[in-house]
Amino acid sequence: MKIAMIGSGYVGLVSGACFADFGHMVVCVDKDADKIARLNDHIMPIYEPGLAGLVKNNVDAGRLHFSTDLAASVKGCDAVFIAVGTPSRRGDGHADLSYVYAASEELAGAIDPKTVVVTKSTVPVGTGDEVERIIREANPAIEFAVVSNPEFLREGAAIGDFKRPDRIVVGSNEEWAKDVMRAVYRPLFLNESPIIFTSRRSSELIKYAANAFLATKITFINEMADLCEKLGADVQDVSRGIGLDNRIGSKFLHAGPGYGGSCFPKDTLALLKTAQDNETPVRIVSAVVEANDLRKRAMGRKVIAALGGEARGKKVALLGLTFKPNTDDMRDAPSIAIVQTLLDAGAHISAHDPEGMAEAANILPQVTMAHSAYDAAAGADAVAIVTEWDAYRALDLAQLRAAMRGDALIDMRNIYNVAQAEAAGFKYVSVGR
Ligand code: UGA
Repeated sequence: MKIAMIGSGYVGLVSGACFADFGHMVVCVDKDADKIARLNDHIMPIYEPGLAGLVKNNVDAGRLHFSTDLAASVKGCDAVFIAVGTPSRRGDGHADLSYVYAASEELAGAIDPKTVVVTKSTVPVGTGDEVERIIREANPAIEFAVVSNPEFLREGAAIGDFKRPDRIVVGSNEEWAKDVMRAVYRPLFLNESPIIFTSRRSSELIKYAANAFLATKITFINEMADLCEKLGADVQDVSRGIGLDNRIGSKFLHAGPGYGGSCFPKDTLALLKTAQDNETPVRIVSAVVEANDLRKRAMGRKVIAALGGEARGKKVALLGLTFKPNTDDMRDAPSIAIVQTLLDAGAHISAHDPEGMAEAANILPQVTMAHSAYDAAAGADAVAIVTEWDAYRALDLAQLRAAMRGDALIDMRNIYNVAQAEAAGFKYVSVGR
């Protein structure tokens, strides 16, 4: 199959490289000429484990190409994927679809007959209808189909998620377009990954419903964690005790500082907007959004409480700034609100992150970046583990403690146990234990 991927960001690049690895011929397109030039030199625009090697192998094998020329790239393709960003629109939280519609207009005049145009970007219900209208208006004579095919990739584990998906969702009512999608994903159902065919609108909603449900699960366990702290219970035991029930499932039940990233915050908000516009409230999702927002600053206050209630002039070291491990992505990371809360209270902040410091330095210029966790902790009154990078799972706690002036360790990801931390001389605070 011949595939064009419009948008070489996170989703487009990972999906394009994986499709090429299946043996398809793929061209990844982006307007950003610098990004395309760097990709041609095998320099990745994002940090994602395994991506650089996958891109290089498939470029070397002649199956993966990069281009800034959209019109030339979509010529002769069986499927053209739209994988551009759909950020929150400033001011109202709706998904900003301007990049999706611009790509649709541009490809409309350039595709060959019988091309399947696939929206992979996360788009509100009804966007496929609008994409179809745009293409038909620009090119009334051509036969084409617009299909929804949401992605379920987690940053940091995206290649594994693409190659071993729990399911593939395809939204279309056109038989010939479904056949094209079957051929595109054929290598995956050799591994017996289920492929679900549904209507385009249902497919669009599946994506939002999945992310909102996962965000709800996290928020639920976070609130249970707060309750555990008041009641003298242990959230990790509660999580295990409910997660072993197959109807609940053990994943996404880790209490922490609140969810962040490029997806859950924007997608929950966009779902709320869709629900409001359709006068069908989704009250659970609105409670989730509010609770998660409040939680991030509450985590900052947890650090201040561990400092004895006074942060002015104190030094706090944060370990982990990205919204989760194995990414350099800082979008909506809880660390941002935590830093702000601590700065507001007069603290000085040092930090370390294995991959995110360059990006974080732009967003958090008041934070002093350190070369290692131990350097960050030097002279600190408190150390807070915000992101559970592997590098922080086996710290030499005695060495960490010795580097510090104070003795507070706030473990927002529950990676240490109480006895271990106290044995190293820490006043140890974790989440829900
Ligand atoms: C999420 C979904 O997991 C993917 O399926 C989806 O495709 C993607 O959004 C998207 O819409 O593109 P991602 O944002 O990369 O993926 O990250 P997650 O691993 O889902 O984590 C999101 C946030 O939840 C992180 O801040 C993480 O720390 C937090 N989290 C996750 C918890 O606090 N507890 C948990 O148990 C799990």
